[in-house]
Amino acid sequence: MWSSNTNSILGGILVAIWLVWAANFIGDLMIPKMAPATTQKAPAAKKPASAQPSKEAAVTTTAPASETLKVLLASASADDGKKVAKLCAACHSFNKNGKKKIRPNLFGIIGKARGFSSDFTYSTAIKEMGGKWGFEELDAFLAKPKAFMPGTKMAFPGVKKAGDRAALILYMRSQAEQPAPLPQ
Ligand code: HEC
Repeated sequence: MWSSNTNSILGGILVAIWLVWAANFIGDLMIPKMAPATTQKAPAAKKPASAQPSKEAAVTTTAPASETLKVLLASASADDGKKVAKLCAACHSFNKNGKKKIRPNLFGIIGKARGFSSDFTYSTAIKEMGGKWGFEELDAFLAKPKAFMPGTKMAFPGVKKAGDRAALILYMRSQAEQPAPLPQ
């Protein structure tokens, strides 16, 4: 009883599907003759247009970090950065002749050699890395100090948000005799 009922329901559905398909098929056959060509082509013409914005979005997300940093630096504010710098205040000062805290004073840090301070005992990691602090290096270091410089003595997890880092770097830049030129 149940199964024959199910069968007839299924059969009904199949017939309905076939009818819809047949109607569509016949309709498709008739439309080209009846409808003007423009209504047929419209949906096809829209496709490439809607595909383009997603391509552009993909390009911006894969842009090199320096491009992103440049853009962020251009729109960041040093005042906001001063607030972010409170995260560092337990260890560093940024102003000229700033209090010598546990760690080096960072006045004029951009452009300085890594491990510049003569009265601080740095890790071997920073001494071995050498080089100078540029905008991009600071950005990478401050995002995750231990990832950029494995073995660093800087016990700080990092500033997660790229926008906060850009503001912080802009503030650090302002704390110098002559602020370093922004990356072009
Ligand atoms: C818990 C203390 C501590 C905090 C908090 C801290 N730092 Fe450091 N920082 C250090 C130490 C220690 C070093 C030396 C690293 C080494 O020797 O490997 C250092 C090194 C640095 C250097 C490299 C200095 C040089 O002489 O080359 C920079 C730049 C720096 N910190 C920026 C920051 C900024 C910006 C923040 C806040 C977002 C911050 N630090 C938070 C302890 C800290």
